[in-house]
Amino acid sequence: MGRNAANYGDKDFALYLRRSFAKSMGYSQAMLDKPVVGIADTASDFNNCHRSVPELVEAVKRGVLAAGGLPMGFPTVSLCEPFLHPCSMHYRNLMALDTEAMLTAQPMDAAVLIGGCDKTVPAQLMAAASADIPAALLVVGPMLAQRFEGERLSACTDCRRYWGRYRAGDVSEQRIGEIEGNLATTAGTCGVMGTASTMACLAATLGFMPLAAASAPAVHADRLRLAEEAGALAVRLITHPVRPRELITPASVENALRVLLALGGSTNALIHLTAIAGRAGVQVDLRRLDALSEETPVLVDLKPTGEGYMEDFNAAGGMRALLREMRDLLHLGCKDLYGRTLAERLDEGSDFVDRAYIRARATPVSPVGGIVSLFGSLAPDGAILKRSAATPALFETEARCVVFDGLEDLAARIDDEALDVTAKDILVLKNAGPLTPSGMPEAGYLPIPKKLARAGVKDMVRMSDCRMSGTAFGTIVLHIAPEAAAGGPLALVESGDRIRLSVRERRLDLLVGEAELARRRAAWKAPARPRRGWDRLVHDQVLQAPEGADLAFLRPAGE
Ligand code: FES
Repeated sequence: MGRNAANYGDKDFALYLRRSFAKSMGYSQAMLDKPVVGIADTASDFNNCHRSVPELVEAVKRGVLAAGGLPMGFPTVSLCEPFLHPCSMHYRNLMALDTEAMLTAQPMDAAVLIGGCDKTVPAQLMAAASADIPAALLVVGPMLAQRFEGERLSACTDCRRYWGRYRAGDVSEQRIGEIEGNLATTAGTCGVMGTASTMACLAATLGFMPLAAASAPAVHADRLRLAEEAGALAVRLITHPVRPRELITPASVENALRVLLALGGSTNALIHLTAIAGRAGVQVDLRRLDALSEETPVLVDLKPTGEGYMEDFNAAGGMRALLREMRDLLHLGCKDLYGRTLAERLDEGSDFVDRAYIRARATPVSPVGGIVSLFGSLAPDGAILKRSAATPALFETEARCVVFDGLEDLAARIDDEALDVTAKDILVLKNAGPLTPSGMPEAGYLPIPKKLARAGVKDMVRMSDCRMSGTAFGTIVLHIAPEAAAGGPLALVESGDRIRLSVRERRLDLLVGEAELARRRAAWKAPARPRRGWDRLVHDQVLQAPEGADLAFLRPAGE
């Protein structure tokens, strides 16, 4: 309780006042003498994924008390994907800033960070890396898929599948309404290998929580036992400190990249891992990612790229079984919060594995990784494509493009019967990157124009400077950098231009002559700077996707 005294110019008085006010909450002096574990409580009525957080906080407190600490919960910003405008990504760095400030300003010796929904875990790990105080992570865990009229449903791959069928006229108004009430029916994060689950798996790989904690369902009793364990671990960290930056190293980040690829995981996780690593001074290089992708098979057969749900992954052996299968590809000396090496972690526990969901190396879902990097005249600083969720027949495409200048233009014209578009065209969305007021939303999954969807078109090449939900699928180029709003070549693309995508050559090129591009560049105007507030700070500080879209002033000093 004596850490970080308020500054009245008299430290003894500040601590006297603090003790007095702490006693107003009914704590005895014996309790106040114990080491303090802060618990970042992200319960919010605007966060359905986190509706089990109050119960988890209670279980963490049990774990802290039993281990001899004093648990103190505190609120932070909480972000839930569907409840935020313009999108949750716009506020990831705000949550990271808030969490870092509360970790460093309040008197605590260690912390438990309770996250789950997509942006919360990245924000908390970014905060932990910057605050560099010992912190255990606890995720809320995935929701359960539920049976509905003969099929299993869970957010959010099934949401997109049904919505696509509704747009194509295959599913009625009444049916889409019935499905709406059956997609997400329990507490917890989306039940597929979307961003939340991918980030949980990466956080466990980095050592911030036990491997089993990545996938235990939100409503399973194991989740509460993991919460107790997180509380006890935080107390242990006070006497056996392992700081976040000791866990985030070039080797552990490379392990996390391998796991991302083997999972067929969310493309968003790449941006988040880049931002987390950046806070610890570790660079993620898209070309290195691409090299790893060539030698890392996809081993996990879950939606959106495969068939199963997170509960199947958990029951199949989860992260322990997956990491054992790729053991020879990993840096086994990386430590976790207990100080154990990855090799030691993998030697523990059952050997059970269900090959329906976690494949053997000899029979992978795909012999190569789920994500590739692209470079070329349209993406000088890089772009990515989730090949495990794409249509191989579209990997080598040269075609005319149909350009949308931004999200409003997309909404206004995509379903216009008069839109000049065919299934062979490339759809391009610009002005939706991190620098725009839209905050780099998950709009990269451009809808197939209704008239083409009705004609049976399931996939087209689509590209943008924004992101795609981890639960989405299609031949979709994302994170084009520099983005259009920063004056990247994407800003200069016009409908009718030809673009060449080559996954084989890892190229993305705009086939327009330099003289014409120079003319367009001279006419280009940068978008207006927001007048105030968070939008203004983001505009002035946000970095591009290959740097994790972090804010420049939050990176380690000297970078
Ligand atoms: Fe929270 Fe999908 S909306 S994890």
